[in-house]
Formats: sequence, C-alpha cells, structure tokens
Amino acid sequence: MIITKNETETHAALEAFKLKNPNAIIGFVPTMGALHEGHLSLIREAKIHCDFVVCSIFVNPTQFNNADDLKRYPRTIEADQILLESVSCDLLLVPTVDAVYPCGVPDYDIDLEGLDQGMEGQFRPGHFKGVCMVVERLFSMVLPQKAFFGAKDFQQLAIIRKMTAIRGLPIEIIGVTIKRAENGFALSSRNALLSEEERENAQLIYRALKAGVDFGQLNRNSAAITAKIQSFFTDTDFEVEYIAIVDNDTLLAVNEVNENTTICIVVYYRNVRLIDNIPFVYTTATAS
Ligand code: PAJ
Repeated sequence: MIITKNETETHAALEAFKLKNPNAIIGFVPTMGALHEGHLSLIREAKIHCDFVVCSIFVNPTQFNNADDLKRYPRTIEADQILLESVSCDLLLVPTVDAVYPCGVPDYDIDLEGLDQGMEGQFRPGHFKGVCMVVERLFSMVLPQKAFFGAKDFQQLAIIRKMTAIRGLPIEIIGVTIKRAENGFALSSRNALLSEEERENAQLIYRALKAGVDFGQLNRNSAAITAKIQSFFTDTDFEVEYIAIVDNDTLLAVNEVNENTTICIVVYYRNVRLIDNIPFVYTTATAS
C-alpha cells in the first residue's frame, strides 16, 4: 500500500498508476480513521467496482462543533494501516491540516437546498458545511471516478450526493449498507469509547429501531412510532437527542411512514453520541 501525505504525492502516485493502466477506475473512501469493519466494507465494495482504491484518514476539525468531541476522537493510525493492508487498499492518504487547508480554513458556502436543516444540521450547527468543505477538497486531492459512503450517516450520504450534483463533479457516489455487530449495534469509531459491556447494552438502539418498523406495519403514524421507539429508553442510561422519521429524498419529517422513509435516531450513552437509522419497509402481507 502506498502512503501519501499531500496532494502532490497523491497525484504523482495516481498518475504513475494511470500511465500503466490508462482506463483504470479510481475509487475513493474518505474516513476519519479508527477504522472498523464498517469502513472495511466500504473498501471491499470499492475494490469490487474500481481498479485502484484510495482511502483517506483525516480527522477534519471543520466538521466538529464541539472541541471536546474533536479532542476525544479516537486515533489509531498504526492499527488502521494494518486493517487497510488486509483488504488490499492501494493507497492511504494521511494529510495534515495544512495539506488539506494550505491557506487556512477557506471561505466556503454551499446551498444544500434544505437537506442540512434538520437532524444533524439542527443539533450540530455548521457540521455539514465542514463535511462538504473537506470532502470537496479531498475529492480534488484524489480525483476519483467513484466515491463510497456509508448509509450509517444517512443524512451525510444524501448531502454528499447533493453537493456533488450542485458542483457538477464527475464522481459517482455509491452508498453502502450499515455494518452492524452481531447484536445489531451499528459499528462506529466512537464505539471504541465504550466498554464491552456498554457495547452489549447499546444493542437497545437497534432493537428500538426494529420495534419501530414492526409497529409501523399496523400504525403508520410517525408520532406513534416515535413514541414507541422512545419508550425503549425510558428509565435507562440512554438519552435520546432526536428521533426523526423523514422522506428519503427531501429529508423532511413525514406524518406517516412509507417505503421511501427512514427512521433516524441519535442517543447519548455514557457521554458518547451514537447515530443509527433504519429504512422503513413493509414486512407483512396485510400492510401495503
Ligand atoms: P467516518 O465517521 O470515519 O466514516 C467514514 C465512512 O464510513 C462514512 O461514509 C461512514 O458513513 C462510513 N461508516 C461508518 N460506520 C459505518 C458502518 N457501521 N457501516 C457502513 N459504513 C460506515 O463520515 C466521516 O468519517 C466523515 O464525515 C468524512 C466523510 C470522512 C468527512 O470528514
């Protein structure tokens, strides 16, 4: 695996590969490191669709609206490197802040047509501006034809698609389904901040989401489904930040679920912010 630290080194490595493989498809998986099976599933998917796969590890300060969260973000670069080798990642880009933002944090603005207003946008002001800023910059460092993002960050995936369309970038955005632990807990870098026992307890989140989908088979009312999910956390150490049932395209809250809606949730557990979602599907013959 080639390791680069900046745009010049990355372009040089890609040019050398393309010289020998002129029609090569370059795939890109941007990450913030502390890699786990969820990230690796993105790399594996990229390996299927592309001839050369680039992964970046960069804990982007401009998308954190909480200094403590940024400071506590797990950093495990040596282990990450080994994991990336194990899935035959071709190039790892590990830039410094200066390499990403050589002239300091740029003035950056993008009108995401409301996709950034609710959910994460509401509770983490400025977050998606930072995400779009860094992803656009990383895209220019890697110049991929395809880029892979996890459905775990449902709103982020929709926003990256929108940003790519607005900017007219010739990059196909591919969404990859959520990778979960055996108990259903969605894998996340932040899970490293929990003990094994806490990770076991955190399966409650997925159980609550699944119960929401089950409940929705008979009662499509979003408020009723939300109350059902919320009830799972009563008298527990989990604190719900939001439960949102939204249309997959507009990300606006819907009054009733249908097969184009997703149930999104954020809970705090032991001071760790955990995000998850589940698409609503009809599972019974009677509900259609
Ligand atoms: P990070 O949280 O490291 O996630 C990198 C990518 O891995 C994202 O596309 C995320 O959705 C995906 N991912 C994380 N956990 C997953 C899981 N359990 N199953 C499937 N995919 C999963 O998201 C970011 O970094 C940053 O915002 C970034 C896009 C890199 C910009 O800084």
